[in-house]
Amino acid sequence: MRLTVIGTGYLGATHAACMAELGHEVIGLDVDAGKVAALRAGRVPFHEPRLAEILARHTASGRLRFTTSYEEAGAFGQVHFVCVGTPQRRDGDAADLAYVEDAFAAVARHARKGALLVGKSTVPVGTAARLAERHPVEIAWNPEFLREGFAVQDTLRPDRLVFGVRTARAERLLRSVYAPVLATGTPLVVTDFATAELVKTAANSFLATKISFVNAMAEVCEAAGGNVRALAEALGHDDRIGRAYLRAGVGFGGGCLPKDIRAFAHRAAELGVDLGFLRQVDAINMRRRDRVVDLARELCGGGVLGARVAVLGAAFKPDSDDVRDSPALNVAARLELEGADVTVYDPEAMDNARKAFPLLGYALSAEEALRGAELVLLLTEWRQFREIDPVWAAGLVARPRIVDGRGVLDAERWTAAGWCFRALGGPPPG
Ligand code: UGA
Repeated sequence: MRLTVIGTGYLGATHAACMAELGHEVIGLDVDAGKVAALRAGRVPFHEPRLAEILARHTASGRLRFTTSYEEAGAFGQVHFVCVGTPQRRDGDAADLAYVEDAFAAVARHARKGALLVGKSTVPVGTAARLAERHPVEIAWNPEFLREGFAVQDTLRPDRLVFGVRTARAERLLRSVYAPVLATGTPLVVTDFATAELVKTAANSFLATKISFVNAMAEVCEAAGGNVRALAEALGHDDRIGRAYLRAGVGFGGGCLPKDIRAFAHRAAELGVDLGFLRQVDAINMRRRDRVVDLARELCGGGVLGARVAVLGAAFKPDSDDVRDSPALNVAARLELEGADVTVYDPEAMDNARKAFPLLGYALSAEEALRGAELVLLLTEWRQFREIDPVWAAGLVARPRIVDGRGVLDAERWTAAGWCFRALGGPPPG
């Protein structure tokens, strides 16, 4: 089939490349000429395993092209996927729908007769119905559940597909697009617009709730002398609860979970439904960052003024170079504001971190960050940090004091190597 993908950010670039991989002819469109030029040259503007290889293969074969022209995209596509961003509005918690509205209006203006416009962006429930009223084209909603770092795998082998449709024709077209994925037995839920939109926000809210639940248990463990890692392990053995998203630590960040729970609570309130618990989920999440700052002060004898602090990690999670709403950088910036001398190192996110927080200090390696540090904070659990030898690290730092903000280090091993070791959700020091 001939598909277009509107918006070539994280979601769009991945979707375009993966649709070409499934055998379709694809045009990716972006209004940013710089992005289009990079993608045409086969360059992926962010860190994502496997994506560069797939993109390069299909741009070389001509199956995947990029353009800035809505006329070209409109004339080409039988199905248009809208993958533009819905950031949080500056004036509150609601999602900013300007990009989605502009993209639908532009595609609707140029689309061929009979083309299907499919929204993939995360939107407040009710958006698809409003767009369908406004534009004389057929619309469907097909939410996306990909995780950064696993974007290709999640697109080619998703847990499930969800189609929000109003006609059998729209369902048929989407079934053809995803035929190779459906052929592998991927579960499909066909539903109405509102439910399809809600599946996405509900899924992200559930994941955020799980993380904040375990982080609230971490707070209780800290107060009561328990150990949240053992608690989470024991909870996870119950299949009804499951092990995933029960890693306690400095909390969730990124371009999705934080903004999505706020936008969802806001939208629900507009509809007269009180999802106040999501505000709690958000608040618990932010308190974990405060807790790391408190621990840093405590370990430095009451304040961090003048202390040399090594922050390991800048990305909001490992295997990503994304620093949007990164807990690690938030903590680093707050310590810097309190007068600490902060040095950050991250294996992939240095360029993005420097752009977002130009005033922080940066090292070229973990070793350089550790050298002379009086306090170490592990805030993104990259494998290379998890594998640091505590004896080696103790030889580099000025004072062996560490906060494990992701619950991934072996407390006994670090303590045996002479470290003053603190973890989130661990008992207070004896
Ligand atoms: C999330 C969802 O997992 C995807 O399904 C969804 O498609 C995506 O948002 C989106 O809306 O586009 P992502 O933002 O890539 O994906 O990140 P996750 O892997 O879900 O991690 C989110 C945050 O939670 C990270 O900061 C991570 O460190 C944190 N986390 C995760 C924990 O603190 N504990 C856990 O147990 C799991």
